[in-house]
Amino acid sequence: MKKKIELMKKIERELIDFKQSPLYKYRIENKFFPVVGEGSLNSKIMFVGEAPGKKEAQTGKPFCGASGKFLDIMLVSVNLKREDVYITNIVKDRPEDNRDPSAEEIKLYGPFLDRQIEIIQPKIIATLGRFSFEYVMRHFGLENQIEPISKAHGKSYAYGKVKIIPLYHPAVALYNGGMREILLKDFKILNKW
Ligand code: URA
Repeated sequence: MKKKIELMKKIERELIDFKQSPLYKYRIENKFFPVVGEGSLNSKIMFVGEAPGKKEAQTGKPFCGASGKFLDIMLVSVNLKREDVYITNIVKDRPEDNRDPSAEEIKLYGPFLDRQIEIIQPKIIATLGRFSFEYVMRHFGLENQIEPISKAHGKSYAYGKVKIIPLYHPAVALYNGGMREILLKDFKILNKW
């Protein structure tokens, strides 16, 4: 466990000093923090979102804004506590104006997520949104099974003993109330583990 904490702290230090990132200057100018991730390093379940929003960048905590509130509701619905899971994103700094992360940013920050997956060794990786679904599938060499998120959501993809569970990003329920029930239904798959 000490080793896991040290490895995660090393990732944090590297991210703090990640001047190669096109998002670094924006972070410094706005007194934002990189969002490394939060939760149990021994968790069987890891959630991977896209990139921090404003609130997350201001606090350094993943999913603590409006999307996070809905994520909390979904976690409670399957009897999971935040502290029992690990929550992170692919891109660790906030892209300006809440835009989608670029391919370049995903490529640059992806190796940090790869290392976090190595450290935590989750049995289940629940991806939130299409960017993290596609990234995690590629991470495990499952790119030939990538489907549009509209087809993939709520299914389970296996890599050995690891299950990848693509879910819609919780933000979709904020823009489209009808999606709320679909997300809550898809989340039930996590009840089984
Ligand atoms: N959206 C994400 O993808 N990640 C967060 O941490 C917050 C909002």
